[in-house]
Amino acid sequence: MQYNCAREMCGIAGYVGHRPAAPVLVDCLQRLEYRGYDSCGIAVVSDAGVFLRRSVGPIAEFREEVLSAAPTGTIGLGHTRWATHGRADLANAHPHASCDGAVLVVHNGVIENAFELRERLVRQGHRFTSDTDSEVVPHLLEQGLTEGLSMDEAVSKLPSQLVGSYAIVAVRQGQDELFVLRKGSPLVVGVGEGEYFPASDIPSFLPYAQRVIYLSEDEPFAIGRSGIRRLQGAGASRPAGPYLEVPEPVSLNVESVSKGSFQHFMIKEIMEQVGTIGRLLESPPATLATASELLRGAQSIKFVGAGTSYHASLYGQFLLATTLHLDSEACVSSEFQFRADALRPGAVVVALSQSGETADTLQAVRIARDRGARVIALVNSEGSSLTRAAEVVIPLRSGPELSVAATKSYTSQLVALTLLVERLSPDPMEGARTALEARDSLLELTSDAARAHIASLAHNLARHSQLLLIGRGGNYVTALEAALKIKEVAGVAAQAFPGGEMKHGPLALVAEGSPVILFYDRSQVDQAELAASELITRGAVIYTVGPQPLRSSSLHVRVHDAGAATAISQIIPMQLLAYELAKLRQLDPDHPKNLAKSVTVL
Ligand code: G6P
Repeated sequence: MQYNCAREMCGIAGYVGHRPAAPVLVDCLQRLEYRGYDSCGIAVVSDAGVFLRRSVGPIAEFREEVLSAAPTGTIGLGHTRWATHGRADLANAHPHASCDGAVLVVHNGVIENAFELRERLVRQGHRFTSDTDSEVVPHLLEQGLTEGLSMDEAVSKLPSQLVGSYAIVAVRQGQDELFVLRKGSPLVVGVGEGEYFPASDIPSFLPYAQRVIYLSEDEPFAIGRSGIRRLQGAGASRPAGPYLEVPEPVSLNVESVSKGSFQHFMIKEIMEQVGTIGRLLESPPATLATASELLRGAQSIKFVGAGTSYHASLYGQFLLATTLHLDSEACVSSEFQFRADALRPGAVVVALSQSGETADTLQAVRIARDRGARVIALVNSEGSSLTRAAEVVIPLRSGPELSVAATKSYTSQLVALTLLVERLSPDPMEGARTALEARDSLLELTSDAARAHIASLAHNLARHSQLLLIGRGGNYVTALEAALKIKEVAGVAAQAFPGGEMKHGPLALVAEGSPVILFYDRSQVDQAELAASELITRGAVIYTVGPQPLRSSSLHVRVHDAGAATAISQIIPMQLLAYELAKLRQLDPDHPKNLAKSVTVL
């Protein structure tokens, strides 16, 4: 049989307590949808038996159907899936069950030895119904139970059986506890009054519980209404028994995970930026001091990040070069492995990530540390894996970002980099001053009038499936990030190029009516005029973003020039543009096709 290993990169949630589990699980999963929304499912265990429902598509569609049918059992688990390998169909949706249907499992991660395990389990008589790697887990547990192990023992054996990364929640009919285990994939436990919420991330359970336990790796736990028990796992460093550590309070508030009066999380998060940037500037993280000392002594500096965080890395490189005349390199996280041989003693790696769970970034950090580099991390998500892997952590504090496209975390990354670089600068006030200027202009850039102006730009662009974005220096970083936003949420083939590269290929894409957005600052106006006239000669229609319009601007978006910090404000109209374009193209900006917010597999 051709076995197509479906790797899982998803959101998981469990519940044990005194409330009916089904509505809680559906609710928690909805707040995890940013991790995937290809398919979903829940299982609730009660005296009435096992209730298992799965569905292809987003949770909103599943909600009605499942809630009208679910029993009132108070223990269960759920899953929202983002398929990386293996179709997004019903068979591959979680939870997965053992042959007898009594053991239910949800999993996030990749079980690398799933193929061997599956072959062995099939020889032992187990029947598989999906092509996921995850399905080996309920069968392994069932096999252990058949061989006379208790559920505790069968779960405790998993770390010695599974190779790869996993966050697992399991439940067995007739047992009033959830069993949880993690290695390399996130899993935390929300703690309420006599109720517990194991989940991939804190926002999931925030309306129900404001205390959290960060589970250690490879230690299996059982969670019941009266508390958590540590099982004696193969990798467990501490003896079995009650879990006595005090849960940590969560600093996030409930409003931060709801849309409030906004239609989508994306627009809510765009509008929050005046506040998120302001807070970071007004109370800079104390760790900036340690981080800047590390940088001061660095023999070489590398930035790593993926997606939007890579663009922030490019900004870090730009800032170091322009303000401190320091050489550094920004590297896409997944490419770092191919450059690691060039790491020399004394290297400092600055890792950037909103989620702190991006597998490529975590891998880059592991490689860097193995080679003796010091690691600074700029992270938004508190308690995430990257915060544990880095030596110095600069928290971005922009609050939960639930829309798949990164917006407020990006500007917080730029501000944090500005503050970090400023500490090494001969004029330590310059960075904060310009960042404040950029922050102040945000009020104007997000005003009703500005939003209406961007909506008219979106109308001009909505019928085009291709868009070119051009900038130089720091403006090229904005062009890249704007193109990514527009690609992600509006499904437009937006491509960014440095101004000087136009003649080396991109001009071939320009035809009569092709839209081009040009970004520039005060010092680049003449160059931009030349570029615009060259593009117009080929038929392009020019839209501009800068301190003043060009002669040929069809529509101009004015952005105050705040020196290097302009990148902080310049991206705001482009985030708004991506959002408006998505709506005009009848797409859900919070849930872009084929994308997930947190890419936890390599
Ligand atoms: C995914 C998301 C992007 C994000 C990237 C890096 O691709 O869709 O929005 O920029 O991951 O995520 P991180 O959490 O490491 O910043």
